[in-house]
Amino acid sequence: MADTSLNVRVLGFAGSLRRDSYNRAALRAAQELLPPGMTLEIFDLAPIPLFNEDVERDGVPMAVKEFKERIAAADALLIATPEYNYSIPGVLKNAIDWASRPPGQSPLIGKPLAIMGASSGYFGSARAQYHLRQVCVILNMHPVNSPEVFISGAASKFDETGKLTDGMFRDGISKLLKALQEWTIRLQRA
Ligand SMILES: Cc1cc2nc3c(=O)[nH]c(=O)nc-3n(C[C@H](O)[C@H](O)[C@H](O)COP(=O)(O)O)c2cc1C
Repeated sequence: MADTSLNVRVLGFAGSLRRDSYNRAALRAAQELLPPGMTLEIFDLAPIPLFNEDVERDGVPMAVKEFKERIAAADALLIATPEYNYSIPGVLKNAIDWASRPPGQSPLIGKPLAIMGASSGYFGSARAQYHLRQVCVILNMHPVNSPEVFISGAASKFDETGKLTDGMFRDGISKLLKALQEWTIRLQRA
């Protein structure tokens, strides 16, 4: 049971820029399902430009600076990833690549996180989520292992307003948030 007197501040972002993105809708569902003692702000990756080491050397763009500051200020992250061609979308990888810099000084290092995802396919972004877990290794991020939330056949799990209506997946997100809360507090105390 988590100590709910401590507030765990979570920054969430989705690897989709689509207006009606199921993954952004899943983050909004997470905001509805937060346990006591946890807050979730959603960050939009749209303003982040394509990574270029020349641009980085000439001056890190404001949107990237803000992204990194928001990561640093958060106790934990919640990433909702679609699956593109069995992997994570370029939008998400690009944002992580920016935030991973400079090597050894990234605000991502040591950060607890939870991963979930929605896709139109049968596997609910599972293959993308495992690729994302691989990226976490080089950054020494600390993902929650269980539960896993694979929202498959997403078109039938959200209504026309973007609300997640599927009880099983709502329950899965709720359990994932509680696991992230406990995991974050445990790492903070370690
Ligand atoms: C370039 C591209 C590749 C895709 N590849 C996969 C895939 O490998 N597996 C899958 O389940 N869905 C795939 N899809 C479908 C996505 O799951 C679907 O578009 C989903 O709605 C994207 O997430 P979003 O709603 O958050 O934008 C792909 C879609 C695009 C645009």
